[in-house]
Amino acid sequence: MRASPREQDPADAPTDKGHGLAPDRLFVTALKLTDFRNYASARFTLQASPVVLVGDNGSGKTNLLEAVSLLGPGHGLRGRPYGELARKDGQGGFTIAATVMSRQGEVDIGTGFLPGTREEGAGRSVRIAGKDQSTGALGDYLQHVFLIPAMDGLFTGPASERRRFLDRLVLALDPKMRTPLGRYDRAMRQRNRLFQMREFSRALFEGLEEQLAEAGVAIAAARLDAVERLTALIDETRAARGQGPFPHAVLALHGTLETELTMRPATEVEDVFRVILETGRERDRAASRTLEGPHLSDLLVVHGPKNAPAAQCSSGEQKALLLGLVLAKADLIKALEGTCPLVLLDEVAAHLDQARREALFGEILRLGAQAWMTGTDRELFSPIAQDAQILAVNRGNIST
Ligand SMILES: Nc1ncnc2c1ncn2[C@@H]1O[C@H](COP(=O)(O)OP(=O)(O)OP(=O)(O)O)[C@@H](O)[C@H]1O
Ligand SMILES: [Mg+2]
Repeated sequence: MRASPREQDPADAPTDKGHGLAPDRLFVTALKLTDFRNYASARFTLQASPVVLVGDNGSGKTNLLEAVSLLGPGHGLRGRPYGELARKDGQGGFTIAATVMSRQGEVDIGTGFLPGTREEGAGRSVRIAGKDQSTGALGDYLQHVFLIPAMDGLFTGPASERRRFLDRLVLALDPKMRTPLGRYDRAMRQRNRLFQMREFSRALFEGLEEQLAEAGVAIAAARLDAVERLTALIDETRAARGQGPFPHAVLALHGTLETELTMRPATEVEDVFRVILETGRERDRAASRTLEGPHLSDLLVVHGPKNAPAAQCSSGEQKALLLGLVLAKADLIKALEGTCPLVLLDEVAAHLDQARREALFGEILRLGAQAWMTGTDRELFSPIAQDAQILAVNRGNIST
């Protein structure tokens, strides 16, 4: 199937809105950008099949992927402040309007940012089916997995990046986890602020530590569950199909609460963490931050076939491992939800040899994902050209 980007308002796209049935895959059917990065205005419609964006360096391919990622929860695939996303010569804000086949059936999703209307660094506005909603609510409708070049250092970089990688999966598997994740984050910042304010009130600390214990154990348990499920899926896939083109990952979670949870029930681990926080208060005061808890956990990844830590593998091996992991994430979400998430892959094709590239396209078609892939060379995508929608991106303009 070829793309049919045409001048059409997302609202005019053919719909069977409101049927409420979860589809077998999520896909964008119409997208309209206004003043988003280098797009003054762009609109097009799509089918459910994979989308390939081809264009020169700097044409706007990654920007388009970023816009699509903002239809889901979170800060978008580059995690940049929203003010940066507004077009430099534009009105100051941006809007993204889409029609999406979501977990709840077809729905209109709009999101945008107007500087000055919200606190610095704060949220974007979100409208779902015409109603104002929180950014987190997008998770009830749309999930995506993504791989971008900035993630090349995932295995060698700070643990925070790996935690984020894992927590995105946690949220995709259970959007309600945004509540404990948000609560933990807030309580920890407040506790750290108490140290900075030289506050000694026992009651204040106990209140926050209670929240940290409850939310922290919920987070650690959800992470353990996600890692267990991902491991089971990786093992099953290997048993069914043998060693594939992408090396399998062996995963482990490293963290105080995660380890405790393998030894005793969650309620007891909450008590353990409460005691850790209380006894560590003066040590934390000296450091002005909380030195133990799930905000410091790490996801350890081993390259299965080599039985070597991912961080010690070659850059090509790491890339293949990461791609396998991202595809496994999509597979897991699909297996558990019955709905395949959007798969956003920036610049992956160029870094794979031909056999692996064809294997990637095969995996995407097997998954049935609306995968969005970018590249500067159209030729690289010829094996999937018949089954994909190929869009040419040229200086913020999109055409077939
Ligand atoms: N807020 C903004 N306003 C206007 N232009 C912007 C803004 N933010 C980024 N750009 C520009 O958008 C252009 C396209 O960026 P993008 O990252 O999408 O390119 P790309 O097609 O992915 O290129 P590459 O192949 O090099 O990855 C860049 O020239 C960038 O400077
Ligand atoms: Mg790019």
